[in-house]
Amino acid sequence: MQSYKRRLDTKTLFGKGNHDIFSYLPAAPAHFFTNSVRGGLKAIIESLKIPPGSKVMLPAWVAEGIIDPFRKKKMEVVFYNSLPDLSPDLENIAGLIKTESGIRFIVIIHYFGFPQRLDEIMHLCRASGILVLEDCVHSMFSRNEDGLLTGSTGDIAFFSLPKILPVPDGGLFLIHNPELTYLTEKVKYRRTLAGSLLVYFHLLFLLVKSWEVKLGYSIFYRFVNLFSKGLYTTYYFILQRSFQPQPVSEITKKILKNIDYDQLIATRRRNIEKIYHAPMPGNIDFFSRKFHPNNLLNGVPCIIRGNRKSYLRHLKTRGIECQVYEKSWDFFPAGAGNRFAPEHFLFNNLFLFPVIGELTLPPSPEGINAQAN
Ligand SMILES: Cc1ncc(COP(=O)(O)O)c(C=O)c1O
Repeated sequence: MQSYKRRLDTKTLFGKGNHDIFSYLPAAPAHFFTNSVRGGLKAIIESLKIPPGSKVMLPAWVAEGIIDPFRKKKMEVVFYNSLPDLSPDLENIAGLIKTESGIRFIVIIHYFGFPQRLDEIMHLCRASGILVLEDCVHSMFSRNEDGLLTGSTGDIAFFSLPKILPVPDGGLFLIHNPELTYLTEKVKYRRTLAGSLLVYFHLLFLLVKSWEVKLGYSIFYRFVNLFSKGLYTTYYFILQRSFQPQPVSEITKKILKNIDYDQLIATRRRNIEKIYHAPMPGNIDFFSRKFHPNNLLNGVPCIIRGNRKSYLRHLKTRGIECQVYEKSWDFFPAGAGNRFAPEHFLFNNLFLFPVIGELTLPPSPEGINAQAN
């Protein structure tokens, strides 16, 4: 079974490696870890003493872990438009900066690992005193056409380690703005029972998953899959309710040293290239963004014309578990009419073809067509 979910083998858990994740990330004058991105964002809002009622600019298709900390700290969300390829609409952003007062942050998401251009946004925001938060959760180790790693440019860039690596927790914040490096001293960590439980549920999930992906689709697989889903749901339920900034776990720190990053990157790169060269059925298109070999995607984004749910169910019976950004990504403002039509379209029709582990290519185009209609 090929799945987008990370998995952890015992060798990586118990090894005694000496790999350094920072050799693969952009250099930054300061950084800090938390147990999750949502916890770290909350710590930043608190440390900068941002008053309630201040504003943050977000794209309309956004993860719960991004929007929640701002809302919980009573900040007002101003949604900006994205273009059909999900790059930020600069004209719309410039207009909002002119008309809205009290904007303190803008979040730019490198969706699926495709690097966004940040130079003009940095320029606009510097002139208006707005901090640029670069969301690299999908784009760890991804580079743009010039070879620049994502996470090199924003005032603060952040990564959610478990979204890419086989670790149970971890948010990493790189601080590039020299006026903000003091934040590393300011983060107030609060240990909670929920925070520790979260680590153990996710760790168990990662171990079960490494075993599950070795199974073919069968009744037994479905049983194991149900069990791992239960573990993940419990982990995510706790994560949703524990957004106090906590220190990253010792287990994660240990696993980070045992990950062979060169191999992880090379495998994903090879899989991405293979998928882009595989024949696709008539009702599946690749997402419109042009792929460059420097881009390290967290899955190959595909658009389906037809019933996504039944198609993905079909792929699962063929041994391929794809990802959708749906449940915890549904924050489109009510009453916005057609304003976010491109984002809405992608929300409903896009899925990510998994790129980790051993690759199973999609079944024959005819087979896919028959199921997808
Ligand atoms: C793009 C993106 N940003 C931020 C987050 C939040 O990260 P965390 O779960 O570590 O709080 C997520 C989580 O799904 C995400 O996908």
